[in-house]
Amino acid sequence: MNAKLHWWQKTLVYQIYPRSFQDTTGTGMGDLKGITRHLDYLKTLGVGAIWLTPIYPSPMVDNGYDIADYCGIDPSYGTMEDMEELIAEADKRGIKIVMDLVYNHSSDRHPWFLASKKSKTNDKADWYIWRDAKPDGSAPTNWRGIFGGSAWTWCEERGQYYLHTFAEAQPDLNWENPKVRRALYDAANFWLDKGVGGFRIDAIVYIKKPARFEDAPADAADGMASIHDVIASTPGILDFLHEFRREVFDGHDIFTVGEANGVPPKDLPKWVGEDGVFSMLFEFTHTNVEFPNGEVWCRPSPWKLTKLKGALTASQKATAQSGWYPVFFENHDQNRSINRYYPEGTDTVLAAKALATVLLTLRGTPFLYEGEELGFTNTAFPSIEDYDDISSHGQYQLALEEGHSPEEALRYVQKRSRDNARTPMQWTKGKNAGFTTGTPWLPVHGDYADCCVETEAADGSSVLSYYRALVRIREEGELADVLQGGDYEELPALEASEALYTFTRSLGGKKTLTLVNFTNEEAPFDETILSGAKKIFGNYEGREAGILRPAEAALYVWEE
Ligand code: GLC
Repeated sequence: MNAKLHWWQKTLVYQIYPRSFQDTTGTGMGDLKGITRHLDYLKTLGVGAIWLTPIYPSPMVDNGYDIADYCGIDPSYGTMEDMEELIAEADKRGIKIVMDLVYNHSSDRHPWFLASKKSKTNDKADWYIWRDAKPDGSAPTNWRGIFGGSAWTWCEERGQYYLHTFAEAQPDLNWENPKVRRALYDAANFWLDKGVGGFRIDAIVYIKKPARFEDAPADAADGMASIHDVIASTPGILDFLHEFRREVFDGHDIFTVGEANGVPPKDLPKWVGEDGVFSMLFEFTHTNVEFPNGEVWCRPSPWKLTKLKGALTASQKATAQSGWYPVFFENHDQNRSINRYYPEGTDTVLAAKALATVLLTLRGTPFLYEGEELGFTNTAFPSIEDYDDISSHGQYQLALEEGHSPEEALRYVQKRSRDNARTPMQWTKGKNAGFTTGTPWLPVHGDYADCCVETEAADGSSVLSYYRALVRIREEGELADVLQGGDYEELPALEASEALYTFTRSLGGKKTLTLVNFTNEEAPFDETILSGAKKIFGNYEGREAGILRPAEAALYVWEE
C-alpha cells in the first residue's frame, strides 16, 4: 500500500442519488434507510466513501439542489436519526459519508430568502442579489439562466429583480456579505461535527459575481447570453474560497471536491492541492466532448477520440504535481457513459467493462455513479411531459426557439437528459427491480432483469463482477501502489489513434499498460508496444495478435 497517499486517494467513491436508490416505505422515492440497507453491497464493491446528493429539506424543484434548511433532513428521506444511523453504520464498515454543499444559491423557500424579499431594509435584505428593473421595466441584464429563460425574476413584494444562475426557485446568495459566508461555513461545520468525511461543493464557480452587471452579446435565438459565460470563475473567487478552506476544511481528515464547470485543466493547480482550495475539482472537458462551446443540447458537434484523450491527459498532467484528480464518467447530471462514448450497436456489457478499465486505472480517485457498476444505459421517455428534470424542459424550449421540430427537440432531450442518470437503481428481478413496492417516481429501465444486482452478482462474467475484480486489483493487489499513485503517460505511439486509448502507469520498478478500443470494430495496432508485458485483466479471454477486438479493454503489466 502507498503510505504517502491519503485514505481518499486510495479508495473508490460511490455517488448515490438518494431519491432513486432504495425506497423502504413504499412512497416510490428512495430514502436514507434504503442507503443504510445496502452498505454491505457497497463494501463488497470496495467503496470507501459515499457522496450523497442533497438530502436537506427542499421543495424539490431541482430535486434537492434547492435547499430550504442547510442543517436538516427532508422528511421524504427520513429523519436526522436516520442520517446519524447511516453515518455510524457506514463508519463501522470503513465508509465515509460525503455531503453535497449547495452554496451558490438556496431555495426561494429558505427563511433567509423569505425575509430578504420582504423589503429593501430588512436584516437579510442583502443576503441575495437584488437589482432594479431597467427603465422600461425589463430585467437588469439579458443573461440566460443555466436551465433556460432569464436569470432574473421580478419580485412584486420588494419591487426588484433577483438573480438566479439556475431556476427561478434557486436565488443566488450574496457571497460579498460576510454574514452569508459565516452562515454557510457554520452549516458545513455542523456536518463535520456529525462525522462526515468530506464535501462535494456544488456549482462553485458561480459564487463571485462581476463588479458591473451589463448586457452581453446574445448567443442564441432568444436574444440572451449564457450566464455561465458572464460569471464563471470571476476574478476574486479564490479569495472567498481560501477563506472557506480556512474556516471549514483545514485541520480535518476529509476530502473536498468542487464542481467547477469551465475551469480549464491548466488552471487546476490554482484550485486544488496545497496552494489551492479543494482536494479535487470536477471539470467537464471530457464529458462535454460533444459540446466544446457550452452545453446546448441541440448543438452537438462531432467529436473524436483524440479530443477525449486530450482532455483526460491534460487533467492527468495538470494534477501530476499538485492536487489530485477525481476520475469520473457519470454523475446525476450526465447521460450514461456507454451511450456517450460508444457508437450505437456496441455490446453494452463490453462497453461498460471497457470504460471501467479506464476509470479504475487512470491516476486519481475514481467516482462511480449508481448503476454504472451494472452497465446502465440511457432511457428514452416517449414524450417531453414524461421528463422530470427541469433542465430537460429548458433545453427543449431552447431547441424549439432555435427552429428544431418538436420531434427533434425530444430526440436531443432523450439523448442528453439528466433523467438518463436518475432512473431507479435495479436491485432484483422482481417488481420495480426491487426499488419500491409503490409507484417509482421515475420509470424503471426496461432492461432490469438482466441488468440488476441479483442477476449480475450471480454471474462471474457480468459488469458488476468485472468491477469487483478490478477494484480489488486497484485497492488490494500487488499493483495497488502503481495503480493508485503511479505516474500517468499516454503512449506516444498511439496518441493520434482515433480508435485506441493507451496509457501507462509507473511507480518504482512497476509499470502497467491500459489498452482500450473505443470503437465497435476490430482495431489493429503494432504489437511491439506489448513486448515483455503480460496481460492480467480484460473484458475478452486471451488476446489476438495485433488486434483489439470491438470495445476490447486490457490491462498489461511489466515487471522490471
Ligand atoms: C449542479 C448540480 C445540478 C444542479 C445544479 C444547481 O450542477 O450537480 O444537479 O441542478 O448544480 O444546483
